[in-house]
Amino acid sequence: MKKPVADKQFELGVCYYPEHWPEDMWEDDYRRMVETGFTIVRMGEFAWSIFEPEEGSYQFGMFDRAIDLAHRHGLKVVLGTPTATPPAWLTEKYPEVLNVTYEGVTLQHGMRRHYNYSSPKYRELCAGIVSQMASHYGSHPGVAGWQIDNELNCEINEFYSESDHNAFREWLQRKYVTLEKLNEAWGAVFWNQSYTSWSQVYLPRPTPVPKQPNPHQALDEKRFISDNTISFAKIQADIIRAQAPDQWVTTNGLFGHLDSHELQDELLDFFSYDSYPQFSSIYYDPNEKNPLGDRSWSLSLSVVRSISSNYCIMEQQSGPGGWVNRMDMPSPKPGQMRLWTYQSIAHGADMVLYFRWRTATMGNEIYWHGLNDYHNLPNRRVREAAGIGRELAAAGKAIIGTRAEASVAILRDYDNEWDGEYDIWHGPFMWTSNKEWFKALQRQHIPTDIVYLRSKTTAKELARYQVLVYPHPAIMTDDTAAVLDEYVQQGGTLIFGCRTGYKDSRGQCYMRAFPGAAKELCGITVEEFTTVKGNRAPTSITWTHGDEALTGADAFNDILQVEQDTVEVMGRYATDYYAGKPAVTRNKRGKGEVWYYGAVFNEEAALRIIGSLNISSPAADWLELPAEVELQIRRSDTTSLTFLLNYNEASAEIVLKEPRTDLLTGQELSGKYTMEGFGVLVLQ
Ligand code: GAL
Repeated sequence: MKKPVADKQFELGVCYYPEHWPEDMWEDDYRRMVETGFTIVRMGEFAWSIFEPEEGSYQFGMFDRAIDLAHRHGLKVVLGTPTATPPAWLTEKYPEVLNVTYEGVTLQHGMRRHYNYSSPKYRELCAGIVSQMASHYGSHPGVAGWQIDNELNCEINEFYSESDHNAFREWLQRKYVTLEKLNEAWGAVFWNQSYTSWSQVYLPRPTPVPKQPNPHQALDEKRFISDNTISFAKIQADIIRAQAPDQWVTTNGLFGHLDSHELQDELLDFFSYDSYPQFSSIYYDPNEKNPLGDRSWSLSLSVVRSISSNYCIMEQQSGPGGWVNRMDMPSPKPGQMRLWTYQSIAHGADMVLYFRWRTATMGNEIYWHGLNDYHNLPNRRVREAAGIGRELAAAGKAIIGTRAEASVAILRDYDNEWDGEYDIWHGPFMWTSNKEWFKALQRQHIPTDIVYLRSKTTAKELARYQVLVYPHPAIMTDDTAAVLDEYVQQGGTLIFGCRTGYKDSRGQCYMRAFPGAAKELCGITVEEFTTVKGNRAPTSITWTHGDEALTGADAFNDILQVEQDTVEVMGRYATDYYAGKPAVTRNKRGKGEVWYYGAVFNEEAALRIIGSLNISSPAADWLELPAEVELQIRRSDTTSLTFLLNYNEASAEIVLKEPRTDLLTGQELSGKYTMEGFGVLVLQ
C-alpha cells in the first residue's frame, strides 16, 4: 500500500539547511516558519560529512537537535539521504566512486553529483549512511518521510567509469545472453562492429566524429542508465522501508535517462518534483510562436501527475534564481509565487515546500534566493508565502486527495524519448509537437493528461480518454499497435504525426511500408518523405474541410497515399513538387478514428484538428474564459474544484453563467468577474 502525500491537511513547507546557520538562529527560524503557515521542513540532503565526518564514525548530534526542535514547534521533517554529495574523505580514499565523462575525464570533489551509481564501493558506503540514518530516525515522531538522494540524474546523466562499463556489460549479458543476439540487436555487421568476446563490449566511447556511437547501442545505454539508477535508489528505499516502516519514501525528480514511472511503481510512495517556472524567462526559443512562458510548466506538472496522481513539490520557486555564473533568473513579480504555487496544486500537488527558507550566504547558490533575504528582515516574499499559508490552512483540506481530470491525453514513451535523443530524424519533433498541442489545448481550456505508454498499458486504461495524441512514435511494436487499435475500435480517437511506426524496439527500421506497425490503423502508406529545413522553402497544408485554411507543414513532410476506403483526406500539401498529395488523413475504424498528420505539429494545425473533434472545455456550459487563463479541474466523488490561473500581469475578464464559490476567499461569484493580474480562483 502506498502512503498518501497528505491525509489530514495540505502540507506547506520549506527547505531548510540547519548546518548553514548558527544554531542560535534555528528557534527563531522555526517560530517564523510556523507563523508563515508551514507544517513541514526538508533537511539533511547534502550533509553527509556532518553525519559521518570520518568513515564509519556516525554523529547525529546536530541533526538530533535540529529535528527535535522542529518537532517541538510542530513541524514535520522530511529527511534527505545525503548521497548526492559524497564527503571529500570518501572520494579521496575510494576514487573509483567518481563519475567519468564520455571523453574520459574523472569528475572530482568540489560541486555535487560527481559519483557513479555502479561502483560497488559507493553502493556499500551509501547503504552504510542510509541505514545508520534510518535506524536512528526511523521511529522519530517528528520525521514524516524520506527523500532519496537529490534529483537523480540532474546535472549529469551519463556515466563512464570502469564500474559503469562493467555493469553495462553485465546488464547486456542478462538481456541478450549470447553475443550473437547482441550483435544482431546492435546491427553490428554494419561497419564491422561485430563482437567476438564480451570483453570487447563497452558503453559508447569516443569516436572519430564526436559522439557518433552505434545508435542501437546508444538506445541500450539509456535503458541501462535508467535500470541502474533505479537499482541504486532501491538499495536506499529497501533500507528505509525496513527500518522506518511508518515513514514515507519519495524522491525529487524528472530528469533524463530515467523511467520515473518504474521508479515510482517499484520504490516510492509518491513522486516529488522541483518546480522553477522562472526558467522560462531565460531558457526559451526566440523563434517560437506564441509561447506559454511560465504556463508551460503545467506540461511538466502533467508529466509528474502521470507518475503519481497526487505529488509533492519538494522545491517551489520562491525568489530570483541563479548560481554564481549561470541561470540568472529575474525575481518573481508580486503574486507570481502564489500563482505558481496554485499551478502546482491545480495539477495534483498535495504538499508544497518552497526552496528555500533563507538565501545562502556562501557557495554556488548565493543568488538562488529563498523566501528570506540574507538580512533576514521582513520582506514581500515571506508576506506572500504567509498569505498562501493562511489560504491553504483553511482551504487545503478540501483539495488534498482530489485528482486532476482530463479527457484528452498526449502519449509518450521512454523508448522514443531515449532513441530520439540521438536520432534527430524524429526525436526533436516529439518535444515540439507536445508543446504545440499543449498550447492549443491550454488556450481552448481543455485539460490534458500525459500518459506514458508502457509494456503493461492496456486499452482499458486508455479508454477513459476521448482523444489521444501520439505525435511521432518512430519506435512502435506490433503489440503496442494492437493496444492502440483496441482503444480505437472501442470508440477512441487517436492522432499521429509524421515519422510514426517505422522502427522496431531495437531502433532498427522495419522492412515495411511506413508507417510500419501503424499502417493498418492509419489506412495509409507514406509514399515518400523529406525534411523541410535549411534553404528548403517552407511548405504548407490546405485543409480540405470548411474554409480551406492554410497552415504550415513544419520540419518534415510525409507524403501520404490512401490505402483503405475508410480513409478521408482532411488536408493536402499546398506547395512543392508534392502539392495536391494527401498530408492529413482520417481513418474511421471500428467505433473510433485514427488521424495521420504528415508533418510536425504547430498550434494552428492542432487547432484545426481540435475543431473537427467533439471536444471542448469541460466548463464551457457555465464559464467563459480568455485564452490567457488556465483551467484545471481536480475532482473526487464528492467535490469538483475548478482552478483558474491568470498568467498575465494584467487583469482578465471572465464570465460565470452560474454562481460559484471561491474556495480561497469564500466569496460567491457570478456574472462578469475581473481576475487580478497573476490571480487565482478555485471555484466550487
Ligand atoms: C535544485 C536542487 C537544489 C538547489 C536548487 C537551486 O535543482 O535540488 O538543491 O540546487 O535546484 O539550484
